[in-house]
Amino acid sequence: MKKILLLALLILGTMLLTACGSDNAQKPAADTKTAVSASEKSSAPKQQPAGKGKVLVAYFSRTGDNYQVGYIKKGNTHVMADMIAETTGADTFEIKTVKSYPEDYRECTEVAAKEREDNARPELSGKVPNWQDYDTVFLGYPIWWSDMPMAVYTFMESYDWADKTVIPFCTSAGDVLTGRESDIPRFAKGATLKEGLGLEGKRVQEQPDTVRPKVDKWLESLGYKK
Ligand SMILES: Cc1cc2nc3c(=O)[nH]c(=O)nc-3n(C[C@H](O)[C@H](O)[C@H](O)COP(=O)(O)O)c2cc1C
Repeated sequence: MKKILLLALLILGTMLLTACGSDNAQKPAADTKTAVSASEKSSAPKQQPAGKGKVLVAYFSRTGDNYQVGYIKKGNTHVMADMIAETTGADTFEIKTVKSYPEDYRECTEVAAKEREDNARPELSGKVPNWQDYDTVFLGYPIWWSDMPMAVYTFMESYDWADKTVIPFCTSAGDVLTGRESDIPRFAKGATLKEGLGLEGKRVQEQPDTVRPKVDKWLESLGYKK
């Protein structure tokens, strides 16, 4: 008799445990629902107010007699800026100084060296219209004395960069960024820095088609497709 009672209790216990187990089995379904709403949330930026999320290519570039390219009417960085704007559909803005730099290469290097020594902030002409509408700024410049031209520092310090992403690009005698770009958030305060690209100015000027695939590959890595 005792054996029958024990067996009945055992069967009852097993039934209760199975019932609890099937209750737990319902839980992942509820979790899946939460995951769906999280992914729904991730599409929220598309609902940003009109005018937000625009891309700007702001660049400094010099015409005249330049390193290894002779006299140029469109600066090397300007050529690169146009490539970026073409692929991304961005607006462009040329950073210009009130006082222009000498057309002669050597003279220009001297003026630039003095400005760098003085940590100067050359006065700029013109302001980016509707700055607040841009959330990504490609910032381009030639390398001057292993640094950015001082006018680019003036530019960075002239705007509010909160919530903006800055993506540097440059041209120089080499095919690289110099590392100075890691300092950008110190001057473009509040900006988030993303991976930049440096190209050889002479090649950009004289063989643009040979550098375009590199530019497009870099842009693609940043999420921009032609
Ligand atoms: C004032 C000055 C300083 C320069 N200093 C450097 C340098 O330190 N390193 C370098 O690789 N190229 C240097 N260059 C070469 C330029 O970076 C290069 O020619 C660049 O592509 C010019 O771009 P732009 O035509 O847009 O002005 C210098 C050129 C100038 C005018």
